[in-house]
Amino acid sequence: MPDRFAPISAKCPHVLHGGDYNPDQWLHSPQVFDEDMRLMKLAGCNAMTVGVFSWTALEKADGQYDFTWLDETMDRLAAHGVFAVLATPSGAKPAWMSEKYPEVRRVKADGQREVHWFRHNHCRTSPVYRRKSQEMNARLAQRYKDHPALLMWHVSNEYNGRDCHCELCYQAFRTWLKNRYHNSLDELNHAWWTTFWSHIYTDWDQIRPVDPTLQGLMLDWQRFGTDQTIDFYRNEIVPLRELTPHVPITTNFMGFSITLDYWKFAPEVDVISWDSYPTYSDRPEGWLSAVNTSLVHDMNRSFKGGKPFMLMECSPSVTSLAAVCRLKRPGLHILEGLQAVAHGSDTVQYFQWRKGRGGNEKFHGAVVDHYPTEHTRIFGEVTELGKILARLDDVVGTTTPAQVAILYDWQNRWAIDLTEGPRKEKKDYAQTCCAHYRPFWSAGISCDVVNEDTADLSRYKLLIAPMLYQVRPGLAERVEAFVRAGGVFVTTYFSGVANESDLCFMNGFPGPLREVTGVWAEEIDALHDDETVDIRALEGNPAGLAGTYKARILCDLLNADTARPLAVYDSEFYRGRPAVTVNTFGKGRAYYIASRNDERFHADFYGRLIADLNLRQALGGKLPDGVTAQIRTDGKREFIFLLGFNRQPVEIPLGDKSYGDVLTGETCAHMLKLPAFTVRILETNGI
Ligand code: GLA
Ligand code: ZN
Repeated sequence: MPDRFAPISAKCPHVLHGGDYNPDQWLHSPQVFDEDMRLMKLAGCNAMTVGVFSWTALEKADGQYDFTWLDETMDRLAAHGVFAVLATPSGAKPAWMSEKYPEVRRVKADGQREVHWFRHNHCRTSPVYRRKSQEMNARLAQRYKDHPALLMWHVSNEYNGRDCHCELCYQAFRTWLKNRYHNSLDELNHAWWTTFWSHIYTDWDQIRPVDPTLQGLMLDWQRFGTDQTIDFYRNEIVPLRELTPHVPITTNFMGFSITLDYWKFAPEVDVISWDSYPTYSDRPEGWLSAVNTSLVHDMNRSFKGGKPFMLMECSPSVTSLAAVCRLKRPGLHILEGLQAVAHGSDTVQYFQWRKGRGGNEKFHGAVVDHYPTEHTRIFGEVTELGKILARLDDVVGTTTPAQVAILYDWQNRWAIDLTEGPRKEKKDYAQTCCAHYRPFWSAGISCDVVNEDTADLSRYKLLIAPMLYQVRPGLAERVEAFVRAGGVFVTTYFSGVANESDLCFMNGFPGPLREVTGVWAEEIDALHDDETVDIRALEGNPAGLAGTYKARILCDLLNADTARPLAVYDSEFYRGRPAVTVNTFGKGRAYYIASRNDERFHADFYGRLIADLNLRQALGGKLPDGVTAQIRTDGKREFIFLLGFNRQPVEIPLGDKSYGDVLTGETCAHMLKLPAFTVRILETNGI
């Protein structure tokens, strides 16, 4: 990992600030365009995303292209020193295309073709859609390749791997399966255990991915969805790579969204970007939403080994898709924008710049409201954030060296969600990863996110892999090597259960992880929502556990092989069985947490590990609830983002160090008062 990465584009080595700009919604009111430019300058915007859903505005009928408005937009942006993140429009297809070429519309599981509606719903196999989008992209690239405003490509919008059950997709899926199973139906039948319920396939054409009782099939269908989407994307970028080889390419991801395996997609793009729309509640622990967002930011930074990413979309105010469209409380927008930067984003961008008068998202927050003046609360906050970002040039390209890695893996998640048992609901893989991440967030300790295929684990001191149900080939060996060399590994209940095809391991769970963890999980008990099981810390345990904790939802019944129990169950018929164990393995050790435990458990358990491993905290001293501190550095200068998500002011003890406030120049020592929803950017004096 370099100390400092290059800016996204050398053309604009600043933090990018801007958003989706859709002038094609306003062609009937061209007077807004000059006003847009004036307001953009006021708000400190330097990069606007143009043309995301503009296909029909650029091609009104098959082959009838008209780029006039886009030419004018690009020229206007350039004239005002604003760059264009130029989109390809495949996220929404024109009505004429749906009519003329029905194959571009997806087909539902019952075989019925969708009507023309919504967006993000093209068939990703359709040769027509592929040809038409490539033709469009070739024209865009040809036309704007030398345009001074062109900064980068925003390919399509929020690709998803959702189903299309058309014959074209099925044929492609069968070809994909033939490739995976070496043209052997026997191999496929074995991998999917099709003898159960007489599901044996005797011809490839019998395979239809509509049967949730065949987990191996559905798992492969999900994988195919990712591969086929990537294939569609590769087709889209052919002309972009050819005509604009130096212009970086991104496509906007959607956090933990389950349809695509972003670990597979990440190497395909030059820059990672994602769209973040958290919601906050008024409850005292409303700030927990920020923990989840931080984890996703960390994951996006980790996708390319620490390389800064882009916050491609967020709302400066409400998210109209939410069940309850809560206004962002004063300060929250600036806080969230800088939270992204704190975790490695080099941009803060919005959806969208100007609120549309109509359409589905007319109430979604925008920088410019229906009363399009700069004298609004939202415009004021955006402007203030713009001013802050403009002072963060030195942050651009800096990164975050982390000593802790959380393993989050899409294929594992799919397998957990698809499998029947041990509970229908509350499997909560992502939330569980978040619960294990929270103590580090609260302690101001940077974390990376890895997946099962991450090759190099050696840079971490601590690897945490909750609910590692699916263990693919190679992972156990890498975990063993990591622990043998001195690493600390933590895993939990419901781990090492099945292989990549969802076939259970036959050597006792956690299967290939049995040796490193030194335990054998014999059975798993699922609890009803309101049930708990007690866990009692063993006297003198070295893991910082004390007293009794509560377990919920899932409890493994463990046998310790070589591992040493640190806590035991203290109720239920499995009272006395190990509930937490540690196994020494080579120079390192592996912990097994047998149940889903309460927050106090995580605080104690990880609190001790943080101390034992001497993990680097951004600020010394204990941070109050709802506050985190995150570091970005180039190895010399260190920016410490202190982020407070509380609705009440809090006080931060600074220990014996003093800090300089990057924005105000003020020196901070002893105690720092952080008002509700506030961020401070600090530097250690004397670094
Ligand atoms: C997504 C999309 C945008 C818009 C926003 C807000 O992120 O990419 O087009 O719909 O959500 O809802
Ligand atoms: Zn299809």
